[in-house]
Amino acid sequence: MGSVSLKIGDGTARFKSATVCSSAVHILMLFSVITTNLFALYAFTYSPKPNNHQIHFLNHHHTHKNISLISEQVSLILREIDSSQKKLSQMEKQILGYESIDLSAPNIPNELKLFLQRNQLPLGKDSRTGITEMVSSVGHSCYKSMDLLSNYMNYKPNQACPDDWSLSQRLILKGCEPLPRRRCFARSIPKVGLHPFPLSLWRNVSEKIYSWSGLGCKNLACLNSKKLNRDCAGCFDLGNGNEVLRFVKSRGKNDFLIDDVLGLGSGGIRIGFDIGGGSGTFAARMAERNVTIVTATLNIDAPFNEFIAARGVFPLYLSLDHRFPFYDNVFDIIHVGNGLDIGGRPEKLEFLMFDIDRVIRAGGLFWLDNFLCSNEEKRKNLTRLIERFGYKKLKWVVGEKLNGSGNSEVYLSAVLQKPVRV
Ligand SMILES: *[C@@H]1O[C@H](CO)[C@@H](O)[C@H](O)[C@H]1NC(C)=O
Ligand SMILES: *[C@@H]1O[C@H](CO)[C@@H](O)[C@H](O)[C@H]1NC(C)=O
Ligand SMILES: *[C@@H]1O[C@H](CO)[C@@H](O)[C@H](O)[C@H]1NC(C)=O
Ligand SMILES: *[C@@H]1O[C@H](CO)[C@@H](O)[C@H](O)[C@H]1NC(C)=O
Ligand SMILES: *[C@@H]1O[C@H](CO)[C@@H](O)[C@H](O)[C@H]1NC(C)=O
Repeated sequence: MGSVSLKIGDGTARFKSATVCSSAVHILMLFSVITTNLFALYAFTYSPKPNNHQIHFLNHHHTHKNISLISEQVSLILREIDSSQKKLSQMEKQILGYESIDLSAPNIPNELKLFLQRNQLPLGKDSRTGITEMVSSVGHSCYKSMDLLSNYMNYKPNQACPDDWSLSQRLILKGCEPLPRRRCFARSIPKVGLHPFPLSLWRNVSEKIYSWSGLGCKNLACLNSKKLNRDCAGCFDLGNGNEVLRFVKSRGKNDFLIDDVLGLGSGGIRIGFDIGGGSGTFAARMAERNVTIVTATLNIDAPFNEFIAARGVFPLYLSLDHRFPFYDNVFDIIHVGNGLDIGGRPEKLEFLMFDIDRVIRAGGLFWLDNFLCSNEEKRKNLTRLIERFGYKKLKWVVGEKLNGSGNSEVYLSAVLQKPVRV
């Protein structure tokens, strides 16, 4: 079984390839369909050889016997279908690697049991919503990481949470979301020296206000010396580096300027969403233009969320496997760079693209920013996918840049406008 690499926002998670599994499931399904049909064929063509005695039986007896024979066959078929369906779903569960969590298992922490317990509504069925009980859930994939989850849920209620946020991020990257820890006090760090908005957008604050536990780097200088991901090389340096120039000064034809893009939106750009938005510079530049941007990022190798918050813009701690927690057609603009490179099977990118499309309003803009197309096929695939959505291409630039080792790389930048669909 292979393994594919999935880039989520700022980092990489590893997922097992499902191709082998799905062909196994297909074969299994085919097999069960064929067996079921054979049974049906057998039942409807089957006629017991009459012997001499039977021929002399009364006609109504005959009919009766035929009917009971048929009903016997039918129930046999139904039983067979039922049992092969059960077998199939059992095998599917095994192949996917999860069932429901067995709360009676001995190693399940009590806190997890309490969290998942169903609670009847005290006044019975709610007439407006029709619900009768309150239910909490954890992601189904948690089942595959029971050890990590048990570890995570072994904490003392009403006390300080263990300092293990990187453990929770590992669970999230394994698809175990939502996380069930609710009853302890998250570690808090004094946030001293925060600046008022809008000064906060570009002012340095003491790096002591960020949580460095579980990270390789222990200060900003270390982070700035690294290329944390394709859209964040030195992106914590708000003083002298590239970050200050992004979106306001073009370094090549693939870099669009924020003011040009806002101009394309004919004044209607007020709220937006930045996917995999690094240290929040897109949101900061937009804030200067009175546009509110939510920046989705995990904390892969850096305290992205805290840094964005310290700048006075809105961080959203979310993996891209999640359906976005926004209603349909709400955003005027969505910006994404290499966060779109989630790898895996083509459907993975489709899931993401459809969700992006869902939350942009008609007439809203989709800004694809310096997306690296590692090969020609990938560029064609992405182009084909984008074209399926029927967006109007306001800008479309395919350009080449030399990378660190002198090789030429192809980048796609585009600004697209969502059509009205009826
Ligand atoms: C019942 O079955 C016998 C032989 O299988 C057949 O000859 C007979 O016509 C059937 N009777 C009815 C009422 O279908
Ligand atoms: C802010 O910190 C960066 C390093 O992270 C430094 O290069 C820059 O000069 C500092 N800016 C100010 C205004 O202190
Ligand atoms: C942003 O809003 C403030 C307050 O309404 C206004 O003074 C300022 O001119 C606006 N800035 C831009 C770039 O529109
Ligand atoms: C391009 O799309 C085809 C068909 O969906 C797929 O088989 C192929 O793996 C894709 N190639 C890349 C590089 O994503
Ligand atoms: C530059 O691009 C080449 C070919 O795409 C790749 O093999 C190499 O790792 C890249 N180097 C850097 C520093 O990104």
